[in-house]
Amino acid sequence: MANQLLEVKNIDVWYGDVQVLREVSLQVEEGTIVALVGANGAGKTTLLKTISGLLQPRKGEILFTGKPLHNLKPQDIVDRGIIHVPEGRRLFASLTVLENLKLGAYIKRARTNFDQSLKRAYDLFPVLEERKNQKAGTLSGGEQQMLAIGRAIMAQPKLIMLDEPSLGLSPILVKTIFEFIRTLNEQKATILLIEQNINQTLKIAHQAFVLKIGKIVMSGRGDELLANEEIRKAYIGERVRKQ
Ligand SMILES: Nc1ncnc2c1ncn2[C@@H]1O[C@H](COP(=O)(O)OP(=O)(O)OP(=O)(O)O)[C@@H](O)[C@H]1O
Ligand SMILES: [Mg+2]
Repeated sequence: MANQLLEVKNIDVWYGDVQVLREVSLQVEEGTIVALVGANGAGKTTLLKTISGLLQPRKGEILFTGKPLHNLKPQDIVDRGIIHVPEGRRLFASLTVLENLKLGAYIKRARTNFDQSLKRAYDLFPVLEERKNQKAGTLSGGEQQMLAIGRAIMAQPKLIMLDEPSLGLSPILVKTIFEFIRTLNEQKATILLIEQNINQTLKIAHQAFVLKIGKIVMSGRGDELLANEEIRKAYIGERVRKQ
């Protein structure tokens, strides 16, 4: 196989006595955008939480740069270079934009290259520099999402996991966020992207996995899945009807 940064192998995850993920396997090749798509409740966030160490798989294993991850604490997983931008962004509302960015760089490796990372975040999102002294809680939804991604960049991660970055944004901002994700990837970032915005996601994803009620039911190149009749009917068509 090519250079796999992350390998999830046959994991089962349960909340108490309810099983949520069933024999889930997924691979993220270095330097690519990998999408995980699926309906509400499919288990997408659960998978990210398991990779981050917030949940433990009952079966299976997770390897990062070839080494086991599933027995590490969340903090050690961050130190290994995995940053999870959770659903709902979780910024510190009463701190300024710059203070939030600084918090992203708290791990040792990131502190030494702080100025360089800050420049990278500001280059990607100039609005963050313009508003660096503004309280994060007063930013617009789109700006808050940019700050959440900017804060992730500050940690100089090897893998960035984004949980529904386009949620709640206007169509124009959704387009902007997808363009930023693509730019971030062109700058060599490896990205695991969770989305319900399947059409746009498959356009930028090198590889995509479809999760349905806790199981991976399909995978392939983004453009292949986009052209797949079954996917169009089950997910994209459904979305069009809802709007
Ligand atoms: N802490 C928890 N305790 C019990 N069940 C949970 C918990 N968190 C999630 N679940 C259940 O696990 C299933 C998968 O949830 P998850 O949040 O992973 O879905 P998702 O694919 O991210 O959905 P969405 O698109 O709505 O964010 C759902 O049925 C959910 O109710
Ligand atoms: Mg979710």
